[in-house]
Amino acid sequence: MRIIVVVGARPNFIKVGPLMPALAQGGIEADIVHTGQHYDAVMSDVFFSDLEIPEPRWSLGVGSGTHAVQTGTAMMRLEELLLAERPDALLVVGDVNSTLAGALAAVKVHVPVIHLEAGLRSRDMSMPEEVNRLVTDQLSAMLLTPVAEAGENLIAEGVAPERIHFVGNIMAESVLRNIERIADRDVCGAHGMEPGSYVLATVHRPENTNHPERLSQIVAAFAASPLPVLFPVHPRTRPSLAEHGLDGESHGVRLVDPVGYLDMLALERDAAAIVTDSGGVQEEACMLHTPCVTVRRNTERGVTIEVGANRLARAYAEEISSALDEALASARDWQVPERWDTQVSRRVVDAILSGVIPLLGY
Ligand code: UD1
Ligand code: UDP
Repeated sequence: MRIIVVVGARPNFIKVGPLMPALAQGGIEADIVHTGQHYDAVMSDVFFSDLEIPEPRWSLGVGSGTHAVQTGTAMMRLEELLLAERPDALLVVGDVNSTLAGALAAVKVHVPVIHLEAGLRSRDMSMPEEVNRLVTDQLSAMLLTPVAEAGENLIAEGVAPERIHFVGNIMAESVLRNIERIADRDVCGAHGMEPGSYVLATVHRPENTNHPERLSQIVAAFAASPLPVLFPVHPRTRPSLAEHGLDGESHGVRLVDPVGYLDMLALERDAAAIVTDSGGVQEEACMLHTPCVTVRRNTERGVTIEVGANRLARAYAEEISSALDEALASARDWQVPERWDTQVSRRVVDAILSGVIPLLGY
């Protein structure tokens, strides 16, 4: 069996980290295509080296653009590749534009789509990722889910149960496979922070970065934090901060460039709490027993709230501050969700080897 695996953006690389060796071990021939949605070394190359991911066989150089330009360009280049290569399936991960482009390009040329991280729902159609998830799942022949609830969401949307496989969370497997490698890594010290005495922050969702009033409320909450804040800044967020004069290093807020995956894990592990709007960071905080505040109105990672690892705060300084106080005072003894373990990639391989059922009419 021969499959092509699509990656494009930062969280995609981390998801295929544990997957590629498992596919090889299972006798599944798999090559990576990199759409080029993310292209800076700190947003792409560093993850291939940190996670020892095989070099992409194809790099499509799609780059940045509006949603339609980015998705459409990726579709055109992926279609050409699929017609030339005719793999047995195309595997897409997560919920970014490259995921959607892969699913749309493949289904039209009758290459079955396998979606890893299927079935998550925020029920918020203003999020580009929610649109990508809904469409990708409807187009997929095999849906690999990270939490039990994701399977229920898919059934409710009419997906046939035999297509759904509850494999668990691949981000969790990546944490578990890499955390011992960094037992001695002191990253916070290099940024002037003490273990257990700082807050780690990431902000990159358009709902926060594209609204100056929300971004300034978030920055005000960081400035009011009882502990210093270390903030690796996504390239989308840097210009928004600068435009509104929010990029000064005052009030104990330290802005740094994005960090590599292993450094990020060390920073998450050593933080007293995390404030984020990232999907992956919410999950990693849960795995590493670091309390999390998610600056959003909703989350598709509701399971992290249910187990007691995470809480939501809207983008108001006072709301974030009180959620942060609660996080800092909270117990860290929650149970991680079911199947967030080291066997996720093995379950993916088992599912694929059990046979991908083509969509009706193929
Ligand atoms: C994308 C995903 C989002 C995911 C995030 C992970 C979509 C719709 N969004 O958002 O779900 O959480 O990736 O980080 O797919 N840029 C650079 N260098 C890079 C990449 C981006 O400077 O290597 C800048 C460009 O100005 C670009 C902007 O960041 O326009 C946004 O990049 P894009 O990939 O469109 O969306 P993200 O916000 O990164
Ligand atoms: N990440 C990283 N360096 C950073 C910020 C994030 O390595 O400076 C990692 C983080 O640990 C997680 C992934 O990037 O594994 C999450 O990606 P991101 O927040 O960009 O996207 P999302 O998960 O929200 O789609």
